[in-house]
Amino acid sequence: MAIDYSHQRPVPGSESHTMPHPHDDGDEDGRSDSDMSEGIVELSADEIPEYFQERGGRLFHSHGSCPYPLPVDAEEQQRQNGLHQLLRRLLGGELAVGPVREVLAALPGEQRRVLDLGTGTGSWVLDMAREYPDVRFYGVDIVPIATRYPPRNVLFEMHDIKEQFRYDTGAIDMVHARSVTMAIRDYGALLPEIARVLRRGGLFVSCEWGRRPAMADGSDVAARAPRALAFFDAIRSTLLERRGIQTVADRIPQLLADSGKFTHIVARTYHMPIGDWPDNPEMRELGREYREMVELYARSMRAVLLDGRWAAHADDLVQGYIDEIWSVPGLVSICHTVYARRG
Ligand SMILES: C[S@@+](CC[C@H](N)C(=O)[O-])C[C@H]1O[C@@H](n2cnc3c(N)ncnc32)[C@H](O)[C@@H]1O
Repeated sequence: MAIDYSHQRPVPGSESHTMPHPHDDGDEDGRSDSDMSEGIVELSADEIPEYFQERGGRLFHSHGSCPYPLPVDAEEQQRQNGLHQLLRRLLGGELAVGPVREVLAALPGEQRRVLDLGTGTGSWVLDMAREYPDVRFYGVDIVPIATRYPPRNVLFEMHDIKEQFRYDTGAIDMVHARSVTMAIRDYGALLPEIARVLRRGGLFVSCEWGRRPAMADGSDVAARAPRALAFFDAIRSTLLERRGIQTVADRIPQLLADSGKFTHIVARTYHMPIGDWPDNPEMRELGREYREMVELYARSMRAVLLDGRWAAHADDLVQGYIDEIWSVPGLVSICHTVYARRG
């Protein structure tokens, strides 16, 4: 029945439900046979508006303590879904880097489990759930924008990822975190909790966009696309000054190493072309479609700029970036991926 697969949220005010599994390093391989849905209740349709607030004609999350700055409305959801498809093509058709198949290989008598942080519209989870129908997927977010009718092996939940997860220690086989660096101020602080829920040998996979473009040939982006750089520099300083959000995409491998809880850390970057400048027809098509997503991103970021010291220049900064993605060949976005095993 559809009601079984609607959004879920922790039972409020009940410690045994919201914090059922205290940190316990002594029980790292403990796995439960339940589907781990105790202690959560279905979110009713009339509660959903509470999770959103409108500003300047766009819809944002209403979660007071979360720094996440982007809108979560239909336009932004279209961008997230589009980006998901393009990223998959950039990764050669894969949904994630790393030994995913090996980690999710069936185990007699036990169900594999995957947790997706800041799941958004849930596009990654839904595609993974189709490829791995016997694996159980949990997608968590602070806004209920994923479908209310997911397949049987998917549960979408409301959860703030800076809080402790409700899952047992060692209960999860794979944690996936994509484009979540703006969701938290201290990415390093998230890692011990990810490590706690992962079983030994479990897989953490991250995928984050660098917060400034580059030139495919390694030339100086400041000289070739100064307005693009001005846009990103304004974003970076506004995010840091107004929301305490740091630029960490390229530092995640080091943060994983520093946590002391992960091994076999493998980092890899991919260049996504912005625009139809590549000679290779496949990359040209990818770049052409990606440029559309970049335009949506620039428009979503306008709201961020309006909130800081660049507010008076927000429209010029956005337009400057959009002009250059149409006129400067060779621009790329850098996608930083990393995977690591729970030690
Ligand atoms: C840029 S989107 C990425 C969505 C998805 N991971 C993807 O790659 O398609 C970031 C998502 O993180 C969610 N988010 C922001 N802050 C969060 C928090 N503190 N806890 C959980 N989710 C959060 C947002 O609501 C948004 O859906």
